Parts: sequence; C-alpha cells; structure tokens
Amino acid sequence: MRKISFFLNGKLISPIISPQLTALQLIRDNLGLTGTKEGCSEGDCGACTIVIGENQNGRIRYKAVNSCLLPALRMHDKHIITIEGLGTPVKLHPIQKALLDYHGVQCGYCTPGIIMSLFGLFINNPNPSRTEILNALEGNLCRCTGYESIIQGALSINHINRYKKLKIIPDYFDKVNKLLMNFNEKIITASPDSDKQYLLPASTKELFNYLARYRHAKIVNGGTDLIVDVNIKKYEYGVIIDISLIKEFNFIKTNQKSVIIGANITLSDIFKNATVQKQLPLLNQAIMHLGSTQIRNLATLTGNIANASPIADVATALLALNTRLIVSSARKQRKIPLSDFYLGYKKTALKPDEIIYAIEIPLSPRMTNFEKTAKRQSVDIASVNSAVSLKVQHNLIKDIIIAFGGVAPYPVIAEKTCQYLINKKIDVQIIKTAQQIALSELKPISDLRGSTKFRQTLIRNHLTKHFSKLFGIELY
Ligand SMILES: Cc1cc2nc3c(=O)[nH]c(=O)nc-3n(C[C@H](O)[C@H](O)[C@H](O)COP(=O)(O)OP(=O)(O)OC[C@H]3O[C@@H](n4cnc5c(N)ncnc54)[C@H](O)[C@@H]3O)c2cc1C
Ligand code: FES
Ligand code: FES
Repeated sequence: MRKISFFLNGKLISPIISPQLTALQLIRDNLGLTGTKEGCSEGDCGACTIVIGENQNGRIRYKAVNSCLLPALRMHDKHIITIEGLGTPVKLHPIQKALLDYHGVQCGYCTPGIIMSLFGLFINNPNPSRTEILNALEGNLCRCTGYESIIQGALSINHINRYKKLKIIPDYFDKVNKLLMNFNEKIITASPDSDKQYLLPASTKELFNYLARYRHAKIVNGGTDLIVDVNIKKYEYGVIIDISLIKEFNFIKTNQKSVIIGANITLSDIFKNATVQKQLPLLNQAIMHLGSTQIRNLATLTGNIANASPIADVATALLALNTRLIVSSARKQRKIPLSDFYLGYKKTALKPDEIIYAIEIPLSPRMTNFEKTAKRQSVDIASVNSAVSLKVQHNLIKDIIIAFGGVAPYPVIAEKTCQYLINKKIDVQIIKTAQQIALSELKPISDLRGSTKFRQTLIRNHLTKHFSKLFGIELY
C-alpha cells in the first residue's frame, strides 16, 4: 500500500491506496465521489472524464483525461478536479447551467463527463470554435440527448463578452496552483506490496535498476493500451514499471536536420509543438485521427509504436517519415529505423532490457498526406490507414514512401509500389498501375474490421485519395 498526496477539488488529501487502483476506482469507491461515472472502463465513453492539473515547466497545466485509464498513483502531486469541484445543485457551474438552459441533459449519465471535457477545453481556451468544441467532445458518448443541444449549450458560453462575466475557473484554483509549484511530498510505502508491484521510477537510473531486477516487468507509459488490457482483458502483470514521470524522457529537441521527441511526451503536447505544426503536418494529421482528446492527453508516440498494433495510426505515419527509434538499455543506446522495428505480429526488435528512449524524425521538406478508414469518424480503430511522403523534381517523383496499416501483421511500407513510382510523372495511368502493384504486394486478412476484399478496395481508394489530394488529379 502507498500513501499519496494530491489536491482534490482544491483540498489536499493523502489517502493510502493499493498501487493497482485506477483513478476512477479511487475517486468513486474509496473517496465516495460518485459524480464521476463508469461506463466502459476502456476509454471509449468519456463518462469517467476528470480534469488533472500538473506542474509542467513552471506552469500548472490542466487537461481532461479518462480516469478509468489513469493509474491512481499518478494522481500524486497533481490537482484533480471532478464534477463535485465545479458546482452544486443549488449553485450550478456556468457549464452545467448552459447545458441545462439548452436542453443538453436527459438521463444525465454522460453529463458529468461532458461537463468535465468542456471544462478541460474552456480552462485552456476561453473562446473555442465549434470545431474545437466538437474535438473536445469526441470522446464523450451520449445516448439520449441530441448532441446539437449539448453543442449549442457549449457555444452559448463561447461568447467572449459573456465568458468574461462567467466564472469558469473556481476561486480555489489560484491557491492550489501556487501550492503545486513547490509541492515536495513523496509517495510513501505504507506497507509492502503483495505479489504484484507498480513501480514509478523518477530517473532512467532507477528505471534500469528495476529492469535489471525484474526481467519480466511490463512497461507502461500513457497506459491507453496497457490499462485497457488490464481492465477489460484482465491481463495480469507481476511487475509494472511506469515511465511516464521520468523527466529525462520529457523533451522535444529540434536541430536543422531532425526533431527528436522523448519517450513520454503526450500526443497532445506533440500536436502543439511549433516545429511539428510547421514542418511535420503528416504527424499531426495522424495524431488528430487517434482516439479522443482525453486519450491524446495521456497517449504517447512510443506507446503507439511499441504496442505494435497492425493498425497503429501514428506508427504508420512515422514509417512514411523515415523515422528512427533511439533505443536505450542500461549500458548503451542504439538507433533502429522504424522500418526494421517490426518482426512479426506484436513482435519487435526491442530486447527485454531495452526501452524506446526517443524517436528521431528527419525534417526534410516533403509532400505528405494521411488517410484512415474506420466505421466511425472519431474514436475508432482503422480498417485500413495509410500515409505517403514524397519529393518531386521537374515533375518527376524522386523519392516516395507509402506506408499502410491494417493490411499486414504490422504497419508496412509498400516497397514495390514505391520503387515503381520513382522517376514517374503522376497521371491517371501511372496511378492505376501503382494500385495494381500495391494489391499484388499487400495481403490483408479478413477480420472484424473488414474482409480481405474490402481492405483491397481501401488500398486502391487510399492511393486514389493521396494522389488526387497531392496532385489534384481526379480519378473517380
Ligand atoms: C478509446 C481508445 C481509442 C484509441 N484509438 C486509437 C486510434 O484511433 N489509433 C491508434 O493507433 N491507437 C488508438 N488507441 C490505442 C492507444 O491510445 C495508442 O496506441 C497510444 O499511442 C498508446 O500509447 P500509450 O503511451 O498510452 O501506451 P501504453 O499503453 O502505456 O503502452 C503500450 C505498449 O507499449 C509499450 N511501451 C510504451 N512506451 C514504451 C517505451 N518508451 N519503450 C518500450 N515500450 C513501451 C508498453 O509496454 C505497452 O506494451 C486507442 C486507445 C483507446 C483506449
Ligand atoms: S468509463 Fe468509459 S471512458 Fe472511462
Ligand atoms: S443524457 Fe443520457 S446518456 Fe447523455
């Protein structure tokens, strides 16, 4: 059991908890704050959304996350806001009142999660657009109210004059923000762990000591893949090592040739990075196709790569960008091209004592595009995804990488198709031949997300979309 300390809705508390608990279990079952709801326990419904504040480089930053995917130990040192910290039945918070005024509530089960997602948006962006409101809500399912009334409620707050009069941020935030800046409490082991352990190293030295000691330990980073496996598939790990708090992994460095992104930077933080926004639009396109705001606020690039899913969106985009992985063990560091990283279904070139320390993406100017086909527009896994990056000189393709997910046991490059396209001038006939080559080299299987035939159609369609978007060629 461990004693952790954090601010909950403005008040410092220090509960003694089992390291296996999720934040949702701690909030509801141990602390009795049942306003936070449980729906799916796998990050899909948003009913459990809370807002979490932490010191990032000397500023307290707040973001909405799914509490069902957040290990409770990671609440230490943070400010946690649940629905109970916003309003009361007699004094509603302005977001609660707006939803009521615009008939955005029926049974109310999803409402706390929706309000927390909107709070996570408005605290960072007082005047969001309709699109930004939709992005903030894409991870929240509501089964009985029409979404339009929820959006209208949110838009009603989004009037800068009105906003100025509304008190979105509760008074207690100022005091807590100051206290969090110099918060020095440590997690205390209250009694020895049982047979299962959850370890939170603060440095790489500590991490590699743990890895040497526990050879079968499982790494967790954002937890958006791993905690789903624990919650839903009931996977049991004897020892979990959480690398999300290691400061040495928390960097984005840019030089003239490349950008290097540390292992535990979240997708949301990568999306906001100025170099990535300007020079790597393909990466940001893929990030915006992954999960929801709450998921992107926790998930990392290295998790998406190491999880080795055949349909990993960001890994597919990174393949098209010639990415290299910087892999570390206690003794040495090595670089692996991402194209050599996958060895088979869920098999990678990572050795048991190694972790992905960072990823390195070259910054050479290329034309790029990302496509994803899934059953739903948001928060859905792709049937097929694909990414292309290329260089053109004197109207001829000089260098091209086309990567596909969902057509092989892991994300792959369509090598023969790329070879064929070198030194070609793009026209309708060239694209049709490229489609035939792609269909002959990629062998998708049939499964829940699509039959072989459907996926073959998607391979063809994705190539059409890439070239028509990049070269303005109509193929339909
Ligand atoms: C609701 C929901 C929607 C999702 N939607 C999408 C989607 O649209 N597209 C998509 O591609 N994915 C999606 N995912 C999957 C997941 O969010 C991503 O794969 C995410 O990038 C994983 O990152 P993480 O940091 O959370 O990984 P974790 O869950 O922490 O780890 C995943 C795996 O990677 C390993 N690992 C993590 N970091 C490292 C490291 N630095 N070195 C070595 N091993 C490491 C872990 O041991 C584990 O095996 C979704 C998940 C959920 C719950
Ligand atoms: S309970 Fe559904 S997202 Fe957490
Ligand atoms: S109000 Fe009933 S689920 Fe949204």
